[in-house]
Amino acid sequence: MASGSSFFSLLLILVAFISIATAEIRFSEIRSDPRPIIPFDEFGFTHNGRLELNVSKLSFSTAEPDLTKLGFFICTRDSWLQVLQQIEDGEIACALQSNIIKEVYNLNLLSKDATGFNHYYLQSDADQYTLVFANCLPQLKISMNVRSAMYNLDGCLL
Ligand SMILES: *[C@@H]1O[C@H](CO)[C@@H](O)[C@H](O)[C@H]1NC(C)=O
Repeated sequence: MASGSSFFSLLLILVAFISIATAEIRFSEIRSDPRPIIPFDEFGFTHNGRLELNVSKLSFSTAEPDLTKLGFFICTRDSWLQVLQQIEDGEIACALQSNIIKEVYNLNLLSKDATGFNHYYLQSDADQYTLVFANCLPQLKISMNVRSAMYNLDGCLL
């Protein structure tokens, strides 16, 4: 029994190590940033991809901005070119309105007066994706601390 359970713990440590080894973790501090598009990290997801997004110290240059126009999404390079085309053609005014992007978190979901959130997102379409923040309010400057962790659960026995 004892040797069986220590073998199991060894296996768990190994599995944990493997998933850490293939993770992409990034911490960024954004301060009074007016960019309409803020790219973060790029990662190759498999069919078992996970994205953890932790945002804190969120603040805006104007009071009560329209939060539906602010949010995180992931996008492949090819689909990003299609989004730019949609904007150019006047089909949409903001990347967040596109049916091509995969929305991760719209700031409209924030609870009232919250200055941050934690979000867990599953990605099952394998591809190379970039995590992006869209600010579709031309006058707005945004500040926030962003921690993102992207990884795949392949090889995991759980
Ligand atoms: C980040 O968010 C994920 C998903 O909600 C959560 O499991 C994790 O504990 C959070 N990490 C930190 C450092 O807050």
